Amino acid sequence: MTGVDLAEWNVAEAAPSWLAAPDLVLHAAAWTDVDGAEANPDGAERANVQGTRNVAALGAPLVYYSSDYVFSGGKGSPYFESDPTDPLSVYGRTKLAGEQATGEQAWIMRSSWLFGASGHNFLRTMLKLGAEREEVTVVDDQRGCPTYVGHLAAATRRIVELPFGIYHVAADGDCSWKEFTEAIFEQAGLSCRVRAITTAELNRPAPRPAYSVLRSEKPETPRLPHWRQGLRDCLDEIERLGS
Ligand SMILES: NC(=O)c1ccc[n+]([C@@H]2O[C@H](COP(=O)([O-])OP(=O)(O)OC[C@H]3O[C@@H](n4cnc5c(N)ncnc54)[C@H](OP(=O)(O)O)[C@@H]3O)[C@@H](O)[C@H]2O)c1
Repeated sequence: MTGVDLAEWNVAEAAPSWLAAPDLVLHAAAWTDVDGAEANPDGAERANVQGTRNVAALGAPLVYYSSDYVFSGGKGSPYFESDPTDPLSVYGRTKLAGEQATGEQAWIMRSSWLFGASGHNFLRTMLKLGAEREEVTVVDDQRGCPTYVGHLAAATRRIVELPFGIYHVAADGDCSWKEFTEAIFEQAGLSCRVRAITTAELNRPAPRPAYSVLRSEKPETPRLPHWRQGLRDCLDEIERLGS
């Protein structure tokens, strides 16, 4: 297994010649600054669409990590693989175009609200803020499935044994960002209060789906544990790592 980061290969460019032909590619590189993409759609397009074309050009079977943001959230009930896509934002549109750039031998794993023990993510931000502040304000009118990357990684091993195609792989259960934050603080023993605000009050540049629960209509798709279990497993991992 070889990990390749941005410093070694900007995927918007052709692959470096030293990269040996892989047997399998897990393609997670992306422009993920959802608000920043509204101001720089060309940058997001280069990373997410041309980048995926370049990764597919390696010629190996490919796992492409895609997003609930390919949907508008207007359906109001869980999204299945066969539902029509209708992204609201530049990020969502470029992730969707990235799906279409994966070629003929790809597993497209759509997931949502990812969190893990390292890197920048909502859980780690809230653990930091919850330790520093008496109150945080969090949106309560977007619902989704917060998904622990440890569970997504385990599911990836099973996905690559299935036929190529689109798979919705997100945590069981759903919640709002506010409810997720309350659970984080409760599990982590933080007494910080959580005050609900609306998406309109937060006033971010990129529109977000109000309801982006992902479920699979394919019986072979691996089912992930509930997001509360993901939260417990992630906090355990953070404790083990001391991070
Ligand atoms: N976060 C979510 O809720 C979510 C949900 C569904 C799907 N996904 C997808 O899951 C994948 C991982 O997301 P994440 O949340 O872990 O985001 P992340 O932390 O921003 O990870 C993206 C990685 O891609 C790298 N990168 C950015 N532009 C690149 C380029 N042009 N060439 C090579 N590498 C580049 C970034 O490097 P730097 O850190 O050095 O910039 C970063 O290491 C992405 O494909 C994302 O679209 C995320």
